[in-house]
Amino acid sequence: MTTPELRSPTAGSELPISAADLSRIAGQIYAELTPLQVSAPSAPGAPRASASLPDAPASSAPPTVGSVRQAAPVAPVPEPWFDPATIALALPGPDSPPYTVPVAPRGSAPGAAASAHTLPGLPGLPALPGLAGLLTPWASPAPARPGEFYELGDHRRSGALPPQALGPSAPFDVHTVRRDFPILSETVNGHPLIWFDNAATTQKPQAVIDRLASFYAHENSNIHRAAHQLAARATDAYEDARDTVRDFVGAGRSEEIVFVRGATEGINLVAQSWGRKNLTAGDEILITHLEHHANIVPWQIVAQQTGAVLKVAPVDDRGNLLLDGFSRLLGPRTKLVAATQVANAVGTVSPVHTIVDLAHASGARVLIDGAQSVPHLAVDLRQLDADFFVFSGHKVFGPTGIGVVSIAERVWEETPPWQGGGNMIADVTHERAIYQGPPNKYEAGTGNIADAVGLAAALRYVDAIGIDRIAAYEHALLEYATPRLAAIPGVTLIGTADHKASVLSFVLDGYEAEEVGTALDQRGIAVRAGHHCAQPILRRLGVEKTVRPSFAFYNTTGEIDVFLDAVSDLSARSSAV
Ligand code: ALA
Repeated sequence: MTTPELRSPTAGSELPISAADLSRIAGQIYAELTPLQVSAPSAPGAPRASASLPDAPASSAPPTVGSVRQAAPVAPVPEPWFDPATIALALPGPDSPPYTVPVAPRGSAPGAAASAHTLPGLPGLPALPGLAGLLTPWASPAPARPGEFYELGDHRRSGALPPQALGPSAPFDVHTVRRDFPILSETVNGHPLIWFDNAATTQKPQAVIDRLASFYAHENSNIHRAAHQLAARATDAYEDARDTVRDFVGAGRSEEIVFVRGATEGINLVAQSWGRKNLTAGDEILITHLEHHANIVPWQIVAQQTGAVLKVAPVDDRGNLLLDGFSRLLGPRTKLVAATQVANAVGTVSPVHTIVDLAHASGARVLIDGAQSVPHLAVDLRQLDADFFVFSGHKVFGPTGIGVVSIAERVWEETPPWQGGGNMIADVTHERAIYQGPPNKYEAGTGNIADAVGLAAALRYVDAIGIDRIAAYEHALLEYATPRLAAIPGVTLIGTADHKASVLSFVLDGYEAEEVGTALDQRGIAVRAGHHCAQPILRRLGVEKTVRPSFAFYNTTGEIDVFLDAVSDLSARSSAV
């Protein structure tokens, strides 16, 4: 979304009045007041960010709805202005302009945002000089002169693109790409690090590391609240991150993108907001046997709370989802389907388009867990058409502690806030609160601003390489490793589905999974060993634990050879005993 774009009024907001009616009523009220009694309101859909304009002249025009001028002194006002028993809509306090309410404003400073649009001689957001320093991550930006604005495009370029960016038609050169990841030059136990624990978390390119440092060096502020330059920069960066996520996953609107801590929190949000509101006793939640605990336990909790029943679609002995079984379990009581796109423990790629279509055809809502798919496969939410989609930033080369739940516009009204607090509200009295529209409605409290910005840098990095090129390269790695690993005496692959991404789970005769993990670590090879937070699927396939190497686009066949040698040595040692 670009700065001047507007949001749809009242969409998903709790406001019990339309934006048009709100504007009309407020216009009448403001017309009755003298300029000294109120702050100027922002227009509906006020632009999301601009710097404050301390020296900008105040407009001499009388305040009308959507008009803009410098804030006038505010007379104290008793609270509430209206009895909430007789009128649900409260007028704003001095720091709470009413007209930004239904559109979930993205601007930092209401007065500043409004000023940016209407002060004489300042139409829109001009590109102004003086900010070139932001292009260099470590250089301080020149201080903005009065009337200058922070320029969105500048910080986006700051450390955001891979230094070794490949053109769309250039061949994929893994050795070039590896130079973007400083941690890959580490040694562990005297060996070069081989990072095969990508399903647990991915490593970060320098572009992401620089972007985080640049944010804290030049932009750090809370967002949406204060009328100052850094708030505008931070807000711009945060909302630009939301737009970047939207584009990366092909969501219809930026307002559908809600920042959370990760996929787990996103699923819990849906369970506790949508689930508690829409599930009743006897309703059914349908998951698959492939799920991570994060897509099981939140549904168990909400089932206990509502009396709903959890059903599980079956898989075959290789870890393929059985669509017949899935379809048989879909029924009139199925209210929600929750399925992973790529199974974290065994790598199965599920037919999520079919799952969504079948679920919708039977009247259910659908959540797709994209935690393990977004780093490896192209995702287009407009095509997929899921009602909810979650993923984690740290698994896609971004920071930890940031993730996304995409909430499709058609389910906004069905999905209440799940946490209360600052910034998700439009107006609060002791008697009631009026909520913002999405996404603010779902983002209570100060969010993980810097890491959202870092996530955007990661997604731009992935985009610069090309997700299709990544998918093809990783597929080649899997094709290379799978038969060679399977051929080692004593190795049993766990999860050999027809379509797999990135993951190669196995057990080795004579060893506990953790023993293999420790032995590999002695050679600098990092894998995960254990139940991978997915005990039901491992038990379905006959094991409690596996060793799980998982690949990313910076891994090489040479690294796979080192890994195969290490497993072969363990195998040989075991059979020699
Ligand atoms: N979900 C992560 C994994 O599969 C932590 O390892």
